[in-house]
Amino acid sequence: MLTTRPLRTLAGALAVATLFTSSGTSANSIEQQLEALQYFQVIAHRGASGHAPEHTLPAWQLAHDMGADYLELDIQMTADGRLVVFHDETIDRTTNREGPLRDYTLAELQSLDAGSWFNQANPNHARSDFEGARVVTLDEVIDRFGTQTRYYIETKSAERDPTLEAELMDTLSERGLIEAGAVVIQSFSQESLREVESINPDVPLVQLVWYYPESEDSDTLIEWTGVTPGPGTITDADFETIREYAVGIGSNLNYQGDAVIDEAFVKQAQANDLRVHVYTINDIPAMEQLIDWGVDGIFTDFPDRLVRLTR
Ligand code: G3P
Ligand code: CA
Repeated sequence: MLTTRPLRTLAGALAVATLFTSSGTSANSIEQQLEALQYFQVIAHRGASGHAPEHTLPAWQLAHDMGADYLELDIQMTADGRLVVFHDETIDRTTNREGPLRDYTLAELQSLDAGSWFNQANPNHARSDFEGARVVTLDEVIDRFGTQTRYYIETKSAERDPTLEAELMDTLSERGLIEAGAVVIQSFSQESLREVESINPDVPLVQLVWYYPESEDSDTLIEWTGVTPGPGTITDADFETIREYAVGIGSNLNYQGDAVIDEAFVKQAQANDLRVHVYTINDIPAMEQLIDWGVDGIFTDFPDRLVRLTR
């Protein structure tokens, strides 16, 4: 276990289950969630997706069993308006069919094999029971893990599906997840986060950013959607603007192997009362570096590695 500086970890001591009474949610569950977010968070990226096919129940079950603080999942809408958890815009990479996800109904998607690709791509982690793993709905994930698990949900297709936020918030409200302090909503789209905020201002939001060079050979970094300037020129005012609606910022660490953020970026965000979560970190030296910088959480495909490092 690290570290060269104290790591604020709530792990174990405030494991998710202990935040809730046996009678269910409590009035201050969201406050408890916000308190927990002050400590280091292990965020299982698409489940334990280094060990099992991403966005399938086996991946989330593993992440849950490994002790992740949050199960990270991407939300999109099917042709018949159902919310499914899926990353890519097309189904080519992770199923046995092709084409845009939004062209398929839920029934069509759930007839596909969303697991065998993983065995072929990851022979060291292949398992026969991954074959035929299904695309799942948000409801199915909630059915499996309930309100005593925390979910870090990304609105992935917000610009293509204008009703996505409303549908998502309806589902989360009906299932009692927001009041349970069980949900963070994340997006690269500020508009999407503002929409969520307008529906329910209580749900904690995280603004995702992706920094990359403005042109080949350039040292100047820009942000994908323009939500902030590059880290080199970002100001307190830029962070304050995000803090108006979000509790945190979720950033990439690298672009093509080169770091795009540094410790100063992390400290400046935190000085403006934003938690800093960094995606997607799978190798232990990078995890150690980020912990040393004092980040508040890491998205990883290998939550077991990060749990071992931080608890
Ligand atoms: O949500 C954080 C991270 O997952 C964003 O990247 O492409 O894996 O959704 P992506
Ligand atoms: Ca994501």
